[in-house]
Amino acid sequence: MNAKIAPSILSADLGRLAEEIRAVERAGADWIHLDVMDGRFVPNITVGPLVVRAARAATTLPLDVHLMIDEPDRHLQDFADAGADYITVHLEACLHLHRSLQNIRRLEKKAGIAVNPATPVDDLKYVLDLVDLVLIMSVDPGFGGQKFIDAAVPKIQEVNTQIQGLDHPVEISVDGGIGPKTSGRVMKAGASVLVAGTAIYGTDNYAEAIKQIRQG
Ligand code: DX5
Ligand code: ZN
Repeated sequence: MNAKIAPSILSADLGRLAEEIRAVERAGADWIHLDVMDGRFVPNITVGPLVVRAARAATTLPLDVHLMIDEPDRHLQDFADAGADYITVHLEACLHLHRSLQNIRRLEKKAGIAVNPATPVDDLKYVLDLVDLVLIMSVDPGFGGQKFIDAAVPKIQEVNTQIQGLDHPVEISVDGGIGPKTSGRVMKAGASVLVAGTAIYGTDNYAEAIKQIRQG
């Protein structure tokens, strides 16, 4: 059980973004998670490629860009140019998911699919050959600080079964309501990346918070 920890800057002090990123890097973070919201796919509006570029300048850690936006294909090039390492699109936002994943791969970025709490994961099997990361949402996307939805756990197990026997690695990421009380269960189910916003940035000791999440 050696999950990577990906602090979400959604809960950071964005006025001190570079400092906040370097602080979690020093505290043991493995990736930096950036939540891009468009006010359409989700009710909230957050950051775009300019902020991804600023994050890129602040760290050499992998940037895990979570696009909660409609028509993500229109913006993939911009996020790739800004320095994203993983680009994750929502299954629910992609009419032609296979094409979107190919587009990300064509930009030489790691491709991710995110699924909302109410979305089944069975159909993922048809595109897993094009996928480097599956992100299981454990809250409805849009806001930090929400309560973990238990139904995410069997979905992680299901994806974990699906990826066995593939000829390339697939990360299973879980996002929403992750903290010391939920991390153990999701790691046990097979999650390899734990995204956490408030459970890290909402504390005054990032290293201790990351340590506790890791311990589960
Ligand atoms: C929610 C975002 C999450 C969010 C998680 O739509 O995708 O990444 O930052 O926040 P917490 O960890 O506070 O639930
Ligand atoms: Zn996210």
